[in-house]
Amino acid sequence: MDSCSVMPAAGDLQGRHILLGLTGGVACYKSAELCRLLIKAGATVQVMMTEAACQFITPVTMQALSGRPVVLSQWDARTADNMPHIHLGRDADLILLAPCSADFIARLVQGRADELLSLTCLARPAGKPLLIAPAMNREMYAHPATQRNLAQVAADGAQVLGVGHGDQACGEVGDGRMLEPEQLLQAVVAWFSPKVLAGQQVLVTAGPTFEAIDPVRGITNHSSGKMGFAIARAAQEAGATVKLVAGPVHLPTPEGVTRIDVQSARQMLEAVRLHLPEYGIFVATAAVADWRPAEAAEHKIKKDGSGQVPAMAFVENPDILATVAQTPQAQNGALFCVGFAAESQDLEANAQAKRVRKQVPLLVGNIGPATFGKDDNALLLVDAEGTTELPHASKRVLAQQLVAEIARRLPDTRSA
Ligand code: CTP
Repeated sequence: MDSCSVMPAAGDLQGRHILLGLTGGVACYKSAELCRLLIKAGATVQVMMTEAACQFITPVTMQALSGRPVVLSQWDARTADNMPHIHLGRDADLILLAPCSADFIARLVQGRADELLSLTCLARPAGKPLLIAPAMNREMYAHPATQRNLAQVAADGAQVLGVGHGDQACGEVGDGRMLEPEQLLQAVVAWFSPKVLAGQQVLVTAGPTFEAIDPVRGITNHSSGKMGFAIARAAQEAGATVKLVAGPVHLPTPEGVTRIDVQSARQMLEAVRLHLPEYGIFVATAAVADWRPAEAAEHKIKKDGSGQVPAMAFVENPDILATVAQTPQAQNGALFCVGFAAESQDLEANAQAKRVRKQVPLLVGNIGPATFGKDDNALLLVDAEGTTELPHASKRVLAQQLVAEIARRLPDTRSA
């Protein structure tokens, strides 16, 4: 898995203390990995398990992974005043229930307090975040009682995370699987991210384009898409609604981001044009091929044995960023455009020239050959005021910094 766009940077959850509650369900096996990922991201984790959860995974495993004794009972006398349900909830920055069974959701709705985990949830102070990751059979999930209960826990202040679709432990296929540990980790990281783009809509292009020569060959480049995917993720975590138009890359879609896959520059432009009216921020990170073969052959071009190479003519591709920057939406300030510049030398001069040429308020320069495919980079932000350096860091961190820089530059009327 790509370590930049999806996995958190070590430190994403630095200083955060998570109370991880496990209730009864086969998905408990995923909670072991979730615990490990939370800790890898810098959090400390206190695990609490219901009696039913202990039927699926042992507290020994969860203790070994969390490095703390697991708390199982409201009668656990290890806290001095014998009130684990008060202290463990108060100590946590966030309570995450994963998996959260149908029964446990019903217990939350009723405000039950006859075992430690529901007691702790009931005793949590107002404003203490409670995230729940439902996990159950598809019929149980679809049942009106469960849907009613989920709506009620959300109305009572919990954040109900989605469920996955697919094969279930019972052999059936449908909605109700617990989200994967990486997805849950992203949801927790997103919870703590400053919401500098709350209410904003962000459209991002990412990756290379592929310009067909014939059905089996084409022209492309080394762009991995990592920077664009990292920006899409950071924008989503910052509270924006994000759509990603991606060229051919092998990267998982960041949680909560909608993705449109395209191949060629013309397809990318078409997808951008179609969706642009709904968006207020456009970030063009894609390494769009400047030229394409004038004609793509319908069938594979064969060698004819003469040693002659086939003649090939090229035409210029549309400039997606420049096209977008010319729209009335961008010209009247309703759309904030951010371009990238992949240069090989004279970064500042080339980036400034490109910003003026493409008529965008912000252009982000980087040295292309030094960054393509890598997990880290250094950026130079160029705008009408001058330059801002974002020194060498992971693309994940740079994306978070860039999102903050974009938010800072939005016209006052549009900022969150
Ligand atoms: N871009 C685009 N459509 C193109 C070419 C570039 O949208 N056909 C966008 C890129 O996504 C990036 C910016 O324009 O945000 C600059 O891309 P870059 O490749 O650095 O510059 P070019 O415009 O191709 O100019 P040159 O190759 O001459 O440096």
